Amino acid sequence: MMLRIPALLSPDEVRLCRKALEEAQWQDGRTTAGSLAIQVKANLQLPVDSPVAQSIGNRILDRLGQNPLFMSAALPLKVLPPRFNRYEGGGTYGNHIDNAFFNIPGTPIKVRTDVSTTLFLSDPDEYEGGELIVEDTFGHQSVKLPAGDAIVYPGTSLHRVNPVTRGTRYGSFFWTHSLVASDEKRRVLFDLDQQIQSLTQRHPGDASLAPLSGTYHNLLRMWAQA
Ligand code: NI
Repeated sequence: MMLRIPALLSPDEVRLCRKALEEAQWQDGRTTAGSLAIQVKANLQLPVDSPVAQSIGNRILDRLGQNPLFMSAALPLKVLPPRFNRYEGGGTYGNHIDNAFFNIPGTPIKVRTDVSTTLFLSDPDEYEGGELIVEDTFGHQSVKLPAGDAIVYPGTSLHRVNPVTRGTRYGSFFWTHSLVASDEKRRVLFDLDQQIQSLTQRHPGDASLAPLSGTYHNLLRMWAQA
């Protein structure tokens, strides 16, 4: 499932992040690429121990925890600290599938990359190119969103970032280890949850709400691994 999360960050928060990112020390993205990725990756990134990355990353994690759409779609167990990248001057990241696991930096804790999220921190008119292209069973999707919006997609997808031929594209990305590994099962739970929320709005106190919400939790209990 691919899902847009509108305004994960407010315009004020985007401005603060951008100011910090523009002043930060960037490194060549190839320093953390595996042997396959190194052939296709040409961007800049913040070192994972960068204080700027940590402080903005924590703000993003706070916002995620308060975002009902993200919580319902990703069903997070663990989220890796957000990473930050910058593409300019033809910078690109060719087709790849992300590693299945990453350690939380400085710890032995492994995070399975069930759900990928890209948060856009530049507006579409600030750069040319730079679309996130995701290829999956749902076809070929081209994504370029307003600053502050995020896109959530399955970690199993082949994806790339088109070359940025004008301007600069700032973004953040991170992986979520979900309570439910299967994208198909997460989709069923998400659809059911959205309908329960909608019924709650339209008919508060409806007698079907308790059993429907019970069914949601029974499916989650059956499918979740924690
Ligand atoms: Ni990737």
